[in-house]
Amino acid sequence: TKYWKLTKQEKIDIEMIQEASTLLKQGETVAFPTETVYGLGADATNSEAVSKIFAAKGRPQDNPLIAHVANKQQLERLVCGWPAYVDKLMEAFAPGPLTFVLPSNGVCAENVTAGLSTIGVRIPSHPIARWLLRVCDLPIAAPSANLSGKPSPTSAEHVWTDLQGKIAGVVDGGATGVGLESTVIDCTQDIPIILRPGGITQEEIKEITGAVMIDPALANQSERPKSPGMKYKHYSPEVPLYIVEGSLEAIQRKINQLKMEGKLVGLMASTKATNHLTADEVIPLGDNLTQIASKLYDALRTFKNGKVDIIISESFSEKGIGQAVMNRLKKAASQYIELN
Ligand code: TXA
Ligand code: MG
Repeated sequence: TKYWKLTKQEKIDIEMIQEASTLLKQGETVAFPTETVYGLGADATNSEAVSKIFAAKGRPQDNPLIAHVANKQQLERLVCGWPAYVDKLMEAFAPGPLTFVLPSNGVCAENVTAGLSTIGVRIPSHPIARWLLRVCDLPIAAPSANLSGKPSPTSAEHVWTDLQGKIAGVVDGGATGVGLESTVIDCTQDIPIILRPGGITQEEIKEITGAVMIDPALANQSERPKSPGMKYKHYSPEVPLYIVEGSLEAIQRKINQLKMEGKLVGLMASTKATNHLTADEVIPLGDNLTQIASKLYDALRTFKNGKVDIIISESFSEKGIGQAVMNRLKKAASQYIELN
């Protein structure tokens, strides 16, 4: 696996981007940063290249990939058209962390869409992703660049840990920004439906389109999600994670109780809460939901088996980006405990 560390010297960077782009054109897999998480890219029009993504990640074959493009013109070449509200959404949020599910026209390889009639398409805003997409001039299929089931990678080190030796290269562009994946929105109906909450919030979308629905399966575990990827267990840390809701005193009592049982307890919470709580390993996630989102996956990867036996996480507000934070936390957790 080749490793490109991008510097600020533009000339070197362009050479590295060209090398990465050449590998993509040759049908190899290359990981690169986006504004959400690192993606593992391959030529979306080449089914053999795309199958290397599934193999490297150990990804279930029925989970479709997102095609990344440089601009709206490239996006238009992959789909059969869209309702008028999509133009408004694109004006507001593209490039950016929003993935549009639209009717596919079959230009991308069949394994990109896992046989569905729709395709997820997104225009990332990260400068390295944009550069790479422009230079290789191809739609790039890219899921998050982690082993299936693990937290998505927010740094090149995370990618290296998971996929070293299994992929052709990694472009290291430093830590990603948002820290959670894009919002996936089904735009095949009169009213858009959020299939996966993410970087663009429900509130922001509603402001543009007036109406927006949310896949009922996101709130109700017994319904089958409309997005295949949402049914899998995800983002799993090495040890069990409990989300606890309650006062700081109640959370501390829970930690103490687990310690009495002989357990080493890891704690992740807002910085404010961590100032009042003690545990064996404590990771402050920041002062607000935006910071918490950007640090969440790194924290989940930091708690190691052997250092802690259990992770306790504070429960967060579901407002704004909090909806995506809590969606990922609940998928990572084995229990949700309400304390009083
Ligand atoms: O931020 C992101 O979206 C990152 C970066 C790399 O762009 N990518 C990402 O890809 O998170 P992935 O493969 O880890 O998640 C894609 C999600 C999955 O839940 C998948 O099932 C869903 O999007 N998806 C893709 N195509 C779909 C389609 N045609 N219909 C419904 N859901 C789809
Ligand atoms: Mg993923």
